[in-house]
Amino acid sequence: MKLSRRDLLKAGAFAGAATALPLQRMVSGIDAFSRRMPASKLPTPYSVPFARPKSATPVMSTANKDYFRIDMRATQLEILPGYKTVTYAYNGQVPGPVIRVNQGREAIVRHTNMLPKVHDRLAYEPWTSVHLHGSASLPQYDGYASDITRPGESKDYRYPNFQPARTLWYHDHGVHHTAQNAYQGLVAMYIMSDPLEQALNLPSGEYDVPLHIGDAMFERDGNLLFTLDDASGMWGDVFLVNGRPWPNMQVKRRKYRFRVLNNCISRSLDYRLSNNAPFHVIATDGGLTSEPLEVTHIRHAGAERYEVVIDFSNYTVGTKLQLLNTSPQNNRDYPNMDRIMQFEVTGESFTTLDNNLPPVLNPSSPVMALQESQAVATRAFRFRRIGGAWTINGTTWADVVSSNYQFTLADPLKDSVEIWSLENPSGGWFHPVHIHLVDFQILDRNGAPPQPWERGPKDVVYVGEGEIVRVIMKFEGRGRYMMHCHNLVHEDHDMMGQFNVVDPAQAGDDPMGTLAKPIAQMGPLVP
Ligand code: C2O
Ligand code: CU
Ligand code: CU
Repeated sequence: MKLSRRDLLKAGAFAGAATALPLQRMVSGIDAFSRRMPASKLPTPYSVPFARPKSATPVMSTANKDYFRIDMRATQLEILPGYKTVTYAYNGQVPGPVIRVNQGREAIVRHTNMLPKVHDRLAYEPWTSVHLHGSASLPQYDGYASDITRPGESKDYRYPNFQPARTLWYHDHGVHHTAQNAYQGLVAMYIMSDPLEQALNLPSGEYDVPLHIGDAMFERDGNLLFTLDDASGMWGDVFLVNGRPWPNMQVKRRKYRFRVLNNCISRSLDYRLSNNAPFHVIATDGGLTSEPLEVTHIRHAGAERYEVVIDFSNYTVGTKLQLLNTSPQNNRDYPNMDRIMQFEVTGESFTTLDNNLPPVLNPSSPVMALQESQAVATRAFRFRRIGGAWTINGTTWADVVSSNYQFTLADPLKDSVEIWSLENPSGGWFHPVHIHLVDFQILDRNGAPPQPWERGPKDVVYVGEGEIVRVIMKFEGRGRYMMHCHNLVHEDHDMMGQFNVVDPAQAGDDPMGTLAKPIAQMGPLVP
């Protein structure tokens, strides 16, 4: 690959950023809390109506491709009633527009960074990198953290969409600013369907509901307050569901499918219905489970997706049910963080055509069929805080940058099966560990079977305090991909590394091989 002068300058910028760890960007806790909006000014839970994110419209569709255009801009929105908040939004929306695709059709998304050159209060350059989380994209389209798009630049991402139906999400992954960028709004869903899923006749249309659960803290003027608690995380005192504080959702007396994404920067959840009624998990990160899994609560870390069916048919009109949260240990709690949203049952009429929960969903998922005996290697990864840095096996993303992106934590062979042991020896924090490219099956946690809600294809796993979680996966694809903690503050303070899927017949594509360009140099999006 030939690097232009501009590219070399850009690579230099990353090296500088990586050696000067972004400690100076941390707002001191005391300062920050003095600017915090008092709890008395926050809305009363369940007083704000529920909303759904709008879907993106393709710029064009051909026989086998869909083209989308997403612009990132600073956008003022009303999040708390009566206040204006500056967000960083995909196409003016927080969360961003839902991209909907069908398996077998490639999607090309032009992401353009029209954010300010410098963040007005946090004083950083909001460079971006867009990751489609859950997609087996080629390395150069995977949102590699150091493959940044600076304000005024643009990049076309290509998404293959060959995997089974699933709830994916796209979010910022720009090196050292992922937490800030995602916190300000650069998060959205991407929903892929396939024929197997369609044949199940699951609740669809208005009964298939994206549910982004995030948290935030506000300043007195309504702007977002970004604080780092000893670099351990960003902990909000307001739950935002699809960008609305503790909303109230009117539901009809039938089944709903909720696609629940925890897009909190650091916070993990453990939620249940206020009457402790059971509900069913039908899909995990990588798509449908083999059959509906009955649960009464879910421990749900950042970036995990759980799709659940809740049946409201047995409730009388006017019933109010709350989705309540019991914070897992090592989160920071505030008043009202024990409640997330409310469902209010109405007497409105509805169709019964898709009011279905079939007993069998996807019984033949290849990843769920993997056996320990197939594994050709077992590797251990320890997630630890050492000094001020968050590390994986004692290394950080700075080691990747200083090696010119060559340093890897593992080099699995293409199409081989491996077992990875993800280890958190600390009692002081938890780590949601994400492995790019693959879907994995959780084998066990501290030797015990995975939780009832985790028994499906996954790409993020909750590695709690003192936990050792073993996962098994097959490395289909080639090239270098990231793995990291999905507490985005840990990730930015460098708990991130990469592995290289080695194909002896052909080198993998270079994750830094297709860089962003100034907007004026972009050709037409649609050929
Ligand atoms: Cu959702 Cu590498 O991230
Ligand atoms: Cu990912
Ligand atoms: Cu972590």
